[in-house]
Amino acid sequence: MVDNPGQIVRKLDDAAVLAAYARWAPVYDMFFRIPLYWGRRAAVRHVNELDGHVLEAGVGTGMSLPLYKDRLKITGIDISEEMLKKARKKVSHRPNIDDLQVMDAGRLSYPDNHFDVVVAMYVITVVPDPDKVVQELERVTKPGGTVILVNHFSTDTGPWSVFEQGLKKFGHRLGWNPEFPRSRILGRTRLQLEIEESVPPLRLFTLLKFRKRSS
Ligand SMILES: C[S@@+](CC[C@H](N)C(=O)[O-])C[C@H]1O[C@@H](n2cnc3c(N)ncnc32)[C@H](O)[C@@H]1O
Repeated sequence: MVDNPGQIVRKLDDAAVLAAYARWAPVYDMFFRIPLYWGRRAAVRHVNELDGHVLEAGVGTGMSLPLYKDRLKITGIDISEEMLKKARKKVSHRPNIDDLQVMDAGRLSYPDNHFDVVVAMYVITVVPDPDKVVQELERVTKPGGTVILVNHFSTDTGPWSVFEQGLKKFGHRLGWNPEFPRSRILGRTRLQLEIEESVPPLRLFTLLKFRKRSS
């Protein structure tokens, strides 16, 4: 747990993310319930086929939480207290939601090899240091465990690349970095890609499911 919220604000970009999600929190569900629904549903469908203790990093307002099967124990973290407040309201009656707390996904306070499943939906491109976050998600996953990411991964060509270039100038305000190629994750030696799926709308998002190798 991050006891001192000041610890989170290490640099301007972290502050920008916190400020952006403090602004988004009151209206987030209204804008993002539907556009991000398919990715959440796809990721949770994979998680629900597995067993054990699940970490959802960047759980936001908790829109995925009611979708998890009761037999799974779910821990959620997010850097934004404003987003988490909304999440807590949604699941006060769900005993399998073990814990929802403020934490930086780039500096998780959990020990190595702790969770059976780690999932992050639409998070990798909203953090200042995505490589550090992926490293942390991998670290806290048990060997043989599963890491699932849903995200938009940037491309060098095609209409989305034009869109990404256009959005770059608003990234700071929106709390989103539209440039993150999937090759940055596929290069990790301990994460073996098992499933790659395109996710609506318009195949804008991709689900990647990895197994963590033993060594
Ligand atoms: C686009 S939202 C996605 C929320 C949720 N996963 C969903 O499907 O709606 C990104 C979330 O990541 C959180 N976030 C950003 N940086 C983070 C960090 N370093 N550690 C943990 N959460 C972070 C934001 O506060 C926000 O709730």
